[in-house]
Amino acid sequence: MTERPRVFVTNSMSGLQVPGGGSVLAPLHERTRCEVWRQPGSPPRHALREAARDCEGLLCLLTDSIDAELLAACPRLRVVSSCSVGVDHIDIAAATTRGIAVGNTPGVLTETTADLAFALLMAASRRIVEADRFLREGLWTPERRWELDMFLGRDLHGATLGVIGLGPIGRAVARRAGGFGMRVLGWSRSARSVAGVEQTALERLLECADFVSVHVALTPETRGLLDAPALARMKPGAVLINTARGGIVDEAALAAALRDGRLAAAGLDVYENEPIAADSPLIDLENVVLTPHIGSASIATRARMAALAVENLLAGLDGRPLVHRVNP
Ligand code: DGY
Repeated sequence: MTERPRVFVTNSMSGLQVPGGGSVLAPLHERTRCEVWRQPGSPPRHALREAARDCEGLLCLLTDSIDAELLAACPRLRVVSSCSVGVDHIDIAAATTRGIAVGNTPGVLTETTADLAFALLMAASRRIVEADRFLREGLWTPERRWELDMFLGRDLHGATLGVIGLGPIGRAVARRAGGFGMRVLGWSRSARSVAGVEQTALERLLECADFVSVHVALTPETRGLLDAPALARMKPGAVLINTARGGIVDEAALAAALRDGRLAAAGLDVYENEPIAADSPLIDLENVVLTPHIGSASIATRARMAALAVENLLAGLDGRPLVHRVNP
């Protein structure tokens, strides 16, 4: 009888169940010799290296840095399966050179992430968090019971949304915008045509959109795509939403544009460095809604992502095609 493959999982995934019940990791426990990191947070680098050293499979999160050095330290590795759609934490070229299959979890998180992008769009445009804070701080007094100019925001209906990146999540956001009576401009590197979306150059999108939502992957080409000159092109009073990756937007330039009022607001779920530094200039700004990278964080979606990551891993270990494979 052949020995079951050795696998390391960097998160216990406790609380995530497959439909009908049962741990998402159960198939791994049945079919592999599976070690699971059960401490809070991600394994520190030395612990990850030590645990993965003799493994054929690795199931990781986006917080685990799977770089060339780590891959070199794991000579038996055949599959890296990430429980995320983004794979900017993995050195794909190094994995490919070593013949390691890399899997990810697109599709299952599309609608949930689009929901959060829209939630941020609405919260930022209608100043929901600011208003909530005002009320909780006891500032809503009888003298200020209702004021004509209290928390004036921006209308979505009739406004123009610019969607940067027309992959599944960008398209799901565009569909939502159509339902809200918005005109939608879109830009993607592949110049993909999408029903209900007017394709345009990135420069024109930035100049014309009242709201801009970012949905491209972080790659060497998109890092800093919204740098200071790009942000300066945005329509005065526009609102920026980013649920993709922090490295796409120049945070210092964004904070400056929000501070001086050139941009009205922003809704951010992702940051250049995560967690965001306590002294980030964004933290003190009233006109920014900040969430801690929760785009795909619904119970059902996280369970689907984990189940798909397990499926990818088992397929790779069996020598079958991965359901979603990133590298050739
Ligand atoms: C991803 O999967 O890459 C998201 O950022 C988290 O769901």
